[in-house]
This record gives sequence, structure tokens and C-alpha cells, in this order.
Amino acid sequence: MSFAVAIDGPAAAGKGTIAKAVAARFGLAHLDTGLLYRAVGARELEGQDPVEAALSLNPEELDESRLRTPEVAQAASRVASQPEVRAALVDFQRAFAARSGGAVLDGRDIGTVICPDAAVKLFVTASPATRARRRFLELSAKGHAVTEAEVLADVEARDARDSGRVAAPLLAAEDAVVLDTSEMSIEEALAAAVAVIEAALEGRG
Ligand code: CDP
Repeated sequence: MSFAVAIDGPAAAGKGTIAKAVAARFGLAHLDTGLLYRAVGARELEGQDPVEAALSLNPEELDESRLRTPEVAQAASRVASQPEVRAALVDFQRAFAARSGGAVLDGRDIGTVICPDAAVKLFVTASPATRARRRFLELSAKGHAVTEAEVLADVEARDARDSGRVAAPLLAAEDAVVLDTSEMSIEEALAAAVAVIEAALEGRG
């Protein structure tokens, strides 16, 4: 029996934190689909053709620490607007979502394109200022020399590009539960996500 949880939302909204925590709590596999696009973006920065990079990507071998930089995030958002890049990554994501033990995927188009039949769809969002603040603290803690203003500019530029693109734009699925975490702590956001998932599991009997 497959059970897919789709978590979408704009940059630095806390999707990853929530996805990881609910995966651990419900014993589901977790895929951060942003890392796939970041890996393709990183290869593009090294001079590789993004479509070739996407076609030859080995999702089991992603060096996460190297991919979590603002430069790579921007490159990811650029390559993610190319339909051929997105198409090359679809099969892997859908196969992951169909795992028999259940899966949580977080990204931008999970509930709309990758798993339109997901058992649970969450759209996690927060104000740009809140998201920039959280990402700034995260990057600073890892030793990245960034200012909050630079992080806000990165977040806003990616939001605009991700929402405005023709191929799988950032969009809440019609049947998604929207979670605005601007005024919530991570514990509160997580509790809200857990409640939605528990209700879905109960509904399945
Ligand atoms: O962690 P953060 O929200 O900052 O970004 P991410 O989830 O790692 O995604 C990086 C970029 O990849 C986004 O700005 C999107 O352009 C792209 N992306 C996408 O187009 N579709 C997805 N399912 C996931 C990410």
C-alpha cells in the first residue's frame, strides 16, 4: 500500500524541516526534490548542459553540503524552468512516491504534477521576511558569509521565477491544506502537519 505525502511551498518556507520530521514520525521515506534541481544547477555552474546533467544524475550520490548555497539555489531555480530538465527528473520522483512503505516528498510541484493523487497535500508558506530570516540564521550557522538582505533578495528572486515559469509553476494544489507558518514556531507547524496526516491515515481505516 503506498501512502504519499506531498509538501510544496516557496523558498525557505520550512518544507524540508517539516518533511524530515513527519517522515521520521510516521516511518516514511523522505525525498527533498529541491536537491535534485540543486544538483543539476551545480553541474550547470560547472559548465555542463543542464538537460544532460538531469539525464545523467544519480540521485543516490548527492553531496548535500555543497548544494545548500545561495549560488546553487539560484542556478537550481534557473534550470528548473526548463521543461526538459523537469521531464528528466519525473520518473525517479514518481517511483520514490510509490514506495510500498510510503513516502514524503517536498518541493514545488509535488501535489500538482508529480503526485496529483497524494494522500496528503500540504502547502507550507510564510512571509518573505520570515523565510529570509530563517534561512539567514540557517546559512550563518553553517558558516556562510551572507547578509539577511542578500538572503531576502535570493528568496524573492526565486519565488518570482518559480511562480512565473510555464513548466510546473509553484502553485498550491486545489486540494492542498495551506499552512502559513509566519506566526508559528517549528513545533507548532509540525503539530499542524502531523494533525493533517493523522486525519488522512484515519480516513483510510
Ligand atoms: O530549500 P529551498 O526552499 O530554498 O529550495 P529547494 O527546495 O532546495 O529548491 C531549489 C530550487 O529548485 C527552487 O527555487 C526551484 O526552482 C527548484 N525546484 C523545483 O522547481 N521543483 C521542485 N520540486 C523542487 C525544487
